Order: sequence, then C-alpha cells, then structure tokens
Amino acid sequence: MSLLQNKSVLIVGLGLIGGSVARGLRSGGLCRAIYACGRDERPLQQAQADGVIDEWSTDLKSIAVKADVILICVPTLTVRRVFEDLKGVVSDTTILTDAASVKGSVVEDFQAVFGNECGQFVPAHPIAGSEQTGYLASNTKLFMGRKVILTPLANTDRTALLVVTQLWQALGALVNEMHVDTHDAVLAATSHLPHLLAFSLVNTLAHEKQTEDIFRYAAGGFAGFTRIASSDPVMWRDIFLANGPATVAVLDAYVQELGSMRDAIVAGDGDLLRSRFQSAKDARDSFVRKHFSNGNGVETYGHSNQIVPAQKVVPVLTIDGPGGSGKGTISARIAQTLGWHYLDSGALYRLLGLAARRAGVSTGDEALLLPLIERMRIRFGPDQGAIWLDDEEVSSELRTETSGAAASEVAVHPAVRQALLELQHDFRQMPGLVADGRDMGTVVFPDAQLKIYLTASVEERANRRYKQLIAKGIDVNLSDLFVDITARDERDSSRAASPLRPADDALLIDTTEIGIEQVVALVLDLIRQRYLST
Ligand code: DC
Repeated sequence: MSLLQNKSVLIVGLGLIGGSVARGLRSGGLCRAIYACGRDERPLQQAQADGVIDEWSTDLKSIAVKADVILICVPTLTVRRVFEDLKGVVSDTTILTDAASVKGSVVEDFQAVFGNECGQFVPAHPIAGSEQTGYLASNTKLFMGRKVILTPLANTDRTALLVVTQLWQALGALVNEMHVDTHDAVLAATSHLPHLLAFSLVNTLAHEKQTEDIFRYAAGGFAGFTRIASSDPVMWRDIFLANGPATVAVLDAYVQELGSMRDAIVAGDGDLLRSRFQSAKDARDSFVRKHFSNGNGVETYGHSNQIVPAQKVVPVLTIDGPGGSGKGTISARIAQTLGWHYLDSGALYRLLGLAARRAGVSTGDEALLLPLIERMRIRFGPDQGAIWLDDEEVSSELRTETSGAAASEVAVHPAVRQALLELQHDFRQMPGLVADGRDMGTVVFPDAQLKIYLTASVEERANRRYKQLIAKGIDVNLSDLFVDITARDERDSSRAASPLRPADDALLIDTTEIGIEQVVALVLDLIRQRYLST
C-alpha cells in the first residue's frame, strides 16, 4: 500500500500545479484528506465546490497543523515566506516539499529558516508547467508521463523522500533524482533560456512598426515557438532572479552563437551558415532519436507515448458512429460502470466550432483555426456533463444543432485533427478509457483492445434527437433535423481526413431496434470477457 494513503496533504498555492495535484489526488483516492491554502479565496471555494479539496483556509498556520505532507506551490521567491510561517507550527514528522522551478535558492531558503539539520524537506520540480495559469486551468492529467525531478540533500529523510516519490508517481509522473546544482544548470539551459528567448522575441517584434502584420501573418511555427511567452510573468521573474548565474552562463554562450550567425549573414558567408545549421540539425535529430522516438522514427515528445506506463497498456474501448446512434449515452454509461475515463471527442470539435464563432473565424479557415486550438482553455466537469471554455460553462450551447454542424465543419481539416490528437491521447489513463467519436478506432486509438461501431437508421436518429431537444425545451422541426443529420453524415463520411467509418476490426451494432440498456449490457459483457477474465 502507498505510504500516502493514510496521510493528509496540504497544498499551499492552488494554481495550475497545486490544483492539478489536488485533482489527481482526489480522483485517484490517493490520500486521506486534501487541504488547501492561498491568499485568494475564490479558487479555494471553487475547489471545495468541485469536491477536489476537503477544507481550506487563507491562514496557513491554522491549517498547516492538520497536515502530514505540505506541498508548496507558490512562486519561487515566495517559498521562503511560507517556510517562515510554517516554522514552529509543523511537527518534526511533517513532510515538506515544493514545486518550484529553481532548487538551489529554495534549498538555501529552507536551511536558513529550519537549519541545516532538518531532513523533512524534499525539494521537487514537476516539469509540467504550461503558459496557462490558475486553478481553473488545472486538470487531473497534467503530470501523466511528465518528469518530476527531486533534488534530495544528503540528510533528507528516506521516508519523506519515498512519500514524495510515491505522490508524484501516483499522479502518473516519471520521477528522477538529481543534484541541486545539476538541476539548476540543466533547467537554465533547457527551460529558462528558451523562455527568455520567447519573451524577448515577442517584445522585439511587438515594437516593430509592422507589428499587426507580423502577428497576423505569423505561421503556426511562430505561435508554437512563442507560446511560452504567454507564461506567468511573476513566476518567471522569480525564476531568473533565483537562478541568475546558471542562466547568465548559458545566455552568454547563446549570445555568442547568435553573434556569429549575425556576422555570417552580414558577410554573406553561406558556407558558415549552412554548416552551423547542419550541426544544429544533426544534434537535434540525434537527441530526438535517442530520447523522443517510438522506435519507428516518430517523434513522441509531448504525451502520446509517454502516458502509457511501460509495463502496462492502458485499456481502451472505442465507440464510433454517426450522431444519434446512442454513442454518447452508451459510452458515458459504460465508463461510469467500469470507473474508466471518458473521452467525448465530439465535444472537442464542438468547442473549436464555438471558439471559432466567438472569434469571428470561419470554420473553413484552417490556418486561423489552429491558433484558436492553442488558446482554448477547456475543462471537463467530473461527471462528464459539464464543459467549460475559457472559464465559461458552455455545456448547453455545445449540444445545439448549430454547434454540431460547426463541429463537423472544423473537423474536415487535417491540421485541426492533428492538433487535437495529442489532447485526445492524454485521456488514455489507468484504469482505462472509453473513447467516443468518429475515428476513435481507426485513427486515434487504432490499438484499442475493443472497438464498437454503432449505427441506426437516419429516421430513428432524427427521432431520438427530436425527443431529446424537445425534452430540453428546445423548439425543433423533425424534417429539418432529418436534413441536418443527413448532411452531417455525408460531410463526416466523405471527408478525406479520418472519415467516419468502422475500423476493420470493429464490432458493428445497429441500435435502430434495440434499446440503450441492451447495448450497454452487451458491451460490458464483451469487456469483462476481454479484460477481467485474464
Ligand atoms: O459526436 P458529436 O455529435 O458531438 O460530434 C460533432 C462533430 O464533430 C461530428 O459531426 C464530426 C466531428 N467529430 C469528428 O470529426 N471526429 C470525432 N472523433 C468526433 C466528432
């Protein structure tokens, strides 16, 4: 049994990282109680309303006494103040850990407050940040397949180290240990410098006269390269102040390299430029092959492969079919019965359709849809019903026929489908996934162990949809629905990219004549035969 199971965990700072830890702990039932503390009451109240935390307070001292493990998720330079507040309040056995991006300064702060002898602190750095911030952006899957670096000291208590290791592993992270100084030097090069470059590139371009044109015509590569310039300014100010020397060392080397590229351009030295580019390409190709390849030469940095624990394959049940075939209801019911995760992939296309409408972007404009995907902040409620877009609950709006049609229109673009692929792979987590959509069995999870393709006559599907909408008080016309459904079927099945079709190894079920309950029972039987008997 995990050492964490009987412990209470206090999270100080309920933002993206703290909120995601709380969600992961709660959804996995990984500890006895979850408390949170912060300055702003709103995320704390929200987290309690979401059932993510048990108790909260804005007064650290009063809530800290209840905790067995305290995880500090505040900006790097605020960690010391938290240590000062905790000093004299927590017991000798309370485990302290943090999530700051710089480790040297945090270790110094800890020792300055608690002394060099205390071994209850386990410095940790989850490499899972994002340019998104705040509790509302948090999610249970943030740490799946991500690295977490622990930098224990010579006197760090072994049990404390084990508890913190287990905490991150239980959230799906890959835990490594490293010396504090190595951590700060490596991160200066791989994370801090790139952020500095992104911030300064955007600043440089933002001051150019043709700013509007530069941003308007910026291609996807530019948006990708500068994505991290949208990161939290306070967090990054702290990181550079705390990790100054290591960052300046690598920055100087970079400036020198940049200078030599500049000279080569001025001198028209094509050979030099080519040889510098070639050596960069060789180095990158080689490290991608070594560290981020699935063996077939496909780059897998991001999540796609990493979320599957090496020794166990996460089971996936795919349920594809046209709208109104019963996919959504059946998938949600099965996921709930099995306690598996649920992916409503249609909702992702619906969200993009909605985001496009709100931004005044045409559903036919692939190039303008891509940056919208990057910007969309999506959150699914715990019970699969509620969905938020950019902090606004849009569940009802998503279910309208207009949203369905917009979804089907944005879904024809190959680049859109590709951009949403990683997000869909992220849902594949233990103990299993039920994935509902059009191309779940053919493209997104071709290795799924069980694939179902549901269908039903157009008349029956139009009838079902009609009843659903009328029951919700939405006024619709049956023959309009019939026309809409036929048009959507046609668009979804005839598009070139991942068209709606059964996978070769899918089991076809026609639900025209049979009820939801029967289908659920049949699929559950199949799953039990496949997984539970082995
Ligand atoms: O399942 P749904 O009605 O919510 O899907 C809305 C549209 O999204 C559907 O008409 C086509 C598109 N879609 C898709 O192309 N691929 C998926 N896996 C899911 C939905």
